[in-house]
Amino acid sequence: MTTTTGRTALVTGGSRGIGRAVAERLAADGALVAVHYGANREAADEVVAGIEGKGGRAFAVGADFARPDAADVLFDGLAPHLAGRGLDVLVNNAGIASMSPVQAVTPEEFDRIFTVNVRTPFFVLQRALPLLNDGARVVTVGSTASTRIAVSPQIAYTMSKAAADAMTPSLANQLGGRGITVNTVAPGVVVTDMTAGHRAVPAAVAGLTAVTALGRLGEAGEIAGAVAFLAGPDGAYVTGQTLNVCGGTWLGPIMPA
Ligand SMILES: NC(=O)c1ccc[n+]([C@@H]2O[C@H](COP(=O)([O-])OP(=O)(O)OC[C@H]3O[C@@H](n4cnc5c(N)ncnc54)[C@H](OP(=O)(O)O)[C@@H]3O)[C@@H](O)[C@H]2O)c1
Repeated sequence: MTTTTGRTALVTGGSRGIGRAVAERLAADGALVAVHYGANREAADEVVAGIEGKGGRAFAVGADFARPDAADVLFDGLAPHLAGRGLDVLVNNAGIASMSPVQAVTPEEFDRIFTVNVRTPFFVLQRALPLLNDGARVVTVGSTASTRIAVSPQIAYTMSKAAADAMTPSLANQLGGRGITVNTVAPGVVVTDMTAGHRAVPAAVAGLTAVTALGRLGEAGEIAGAVAFLAGPDGAYVTGQTLNVCGGTWLGPIMPA
């Protein structure tokens, strides 16, 4: 018996990066996984094929989170696959970054960040509510950008992640009576497409690893492990929390023992 055997899961942004690792992990743990994608249908199909190749169950579902009707499009696509079954795990992971200091953020950039990272995930949660089975798990992927480190060129992104994280305690209180847990996982810098530009600057990587206790960047599978814990039976009594999964970033100066 694996941790999520027989359960259903929706992973937004499951086509690449952290979401892909989460989708693969939940499927390996026995869940039927909806692998959501925005623009990259091929990448989502590849994730589904990989899961099925290992004996798991998954399907792809698309919706561009920048569109105002994204939540409707997503759940319309999901319904035939669920065939009347509810949702046991919802992982709010899809997101975009921005690299603009405060003076450079345009209204258009601000609106896009908040639409993709906050507005659509909020309405995805709202649409998911009637589908969530008792004992379901909701995990939002936040960021240490809003919990542990101040990254000035990511101010709009940071604000959006703080807003997404703020949904967690409110929802946890509302849904706890049904045994539904709601948590945020806040990754540090993880090796994905999103951080390719950052990781191409050796000084940036050196500065970050120097303030990280484990002295390295994170891997997508390590974030997936934390999500799987919260989504599985061992996470049953954890709710309303933000779990930093960042290798101990900015715990204080690293002094020789
Ligand atoms: N990587 C990090 O260091 C890091 C650190 C902290 C937090 N995070 C958070 O972790 C989450 C995943 O990040 P990642 O690093 O895995 O990013 P990524 O590799 O760039 O993947 C982003 C995912 O989000 C989806 N997505 C992007 N724009 C979308 C849109 N308009 N509509 C629908 N889906 C969209 C993408 O789908 P398509 O490609 O199909 O469009 C893709 O599956 C994000 O919420 C991010 O803020 C990442």
